[in-house]
Formats: sequence, C-alpha cells, structure tokens
Amino acid sequence: MHATLCEHLLDLVQNAVEAGASFVQVEVVETEAGDVEVTVSDNGRGMTPEEARRALDPFASDGRKHPARRVGLGLPFFRQMVEQAGGEFDLRSELGVGTSVFGRYRGDHPDAPPMGEWSDFVVQALVLGEGLEMALIREWRGRRVVIRRSELAEALQGLGDAEALALARRYVGEQEREILGKG
Ligand SMILES: Nc1ncnc2c1ncn2[C@@H]1O[C@H](COP(=O)(O)OP(=O)(O)O)[C@@H](O)[C@H]1O
Ligand SMILES: [Mg+2]
Repeated sequence: MHATLCEHLLDLVQNAVEAGASFVQVEVVETEAGDVEVTVSDNGRGMTPEEARRALDPFASDGRKHPARRVGLGLPFFRQMVEQAGGEFDLRSELGVGTSVFGRYRGDHPDAPPMGEWSDFVVQALVLGEGLEMALIREWRGRRVVIRRSELAEALQGLGDAEALALARRYVGEQEREILGKG
C-alpha cells in the first residue's frame, strides 16, 4: 500500500509521462478549513470514456506491467485512498486533449495519508519528466509556491546531474519552510 500522498502523486506523474504529455501540472492545496485538494493534469493522449472506466477498475489490469505490486495500480489506488479518507474523486479525460485527476479529502481524517517529503517528490518528478514542462504547485493556507521545471533548470543551469538535483531538493525544502511556514 502507498503510505504517503507524495507516492500517489509520483504514480500520477508517471501516468502523464507515459501518456506522452508535454506538460504536467500537480497542485496540492491544503485549505484553511483543513481540506486537501489534489489535481494532476496533463496534455497527454487522454482516454476514451471506455478506457477511463477500465483505468479505474483494478481488476482490468493484466498485472504484467508491475508484477511486483501486490494489488491495484496508480489510478485505482489513488481513488481508493481518497474514498477511504471520506473524500471525493474525479477523473476527466478526453482523447487527444489530456487528463485531469482530482481528489479532495479532509486532512484530519484518520485514513488520510501523510503528505510525505514534498522536496523528494519534486526531485523524483523532475527526473521522471525529463524533457517536459512541469508546474508543481503547493498551497498551504493561502500561501502558494509554484515550481516550474524550466525555471528551476535555468536557475540551476540544468537538472541533469546529481549535484543540481541535490540543490533543487534543498531549494524546495527551504521554500517549504520559508514561504509555507511549515516544518
Ligand atoms: N494521465 C493519463 N493519460 C492517459 N491515460 C492514462 C493516464 N493515467 C492512466 N491512464 C490509463 O489508465 C491505465 C491505468 O493506469 P494506472 O492505474 O496508473 O496503471 P498503469 O499505469 O500501471 O497501467 C494506464 O495504463 C493508461 O492506459
Ligand atoms: Mg500508472
């Protein structure tokens, strides 16, 4: 089972990459009222209504792609997490246009996942999505931080080596503390 929201996010980013997207946006909003709103959207190949229905059925998978996984896959897992946390899940996809995955749940629900390490997620997403533009957005009680892959790559003169990625991770961690006032 997934332990953290960040692990789910990475799965959803992976799907967007596999769908041939050139742009992926991840947005995690923790509202003043204590709701967590998650949106992952991409401009990849999208799905037909039938494909979207199958994608949400954990038993539709042939199990070949991830033989090491116990049960379920990215999308059904995320949906299950959201619904177990008493929340709402939505999947919108249009063939040739893109896909948007949405979940909203109470952050204080006993079955809500912990956030996990946002800075680790950012670095992993940057590596996964090499060559495509990304906006990774975190909002906490009205304070918002937007990370654009292209801007980060420019500031760090590339994201191609371990040193740049370590810098990126530190930068994102500092942002989290300073701007979001967390940690
Ligand atoms: N963002 C997306 N864009 C297009 N198709 C998607 C997207 N996310 C999921 N899918 C489709 O749904 C299927 C199931 O996704 P997922 O549950 O993550 O399992 P897996 O990626 O292991 O196949 C994918 O194989 C793909 O066909
Ligand atoms: Mg997947």
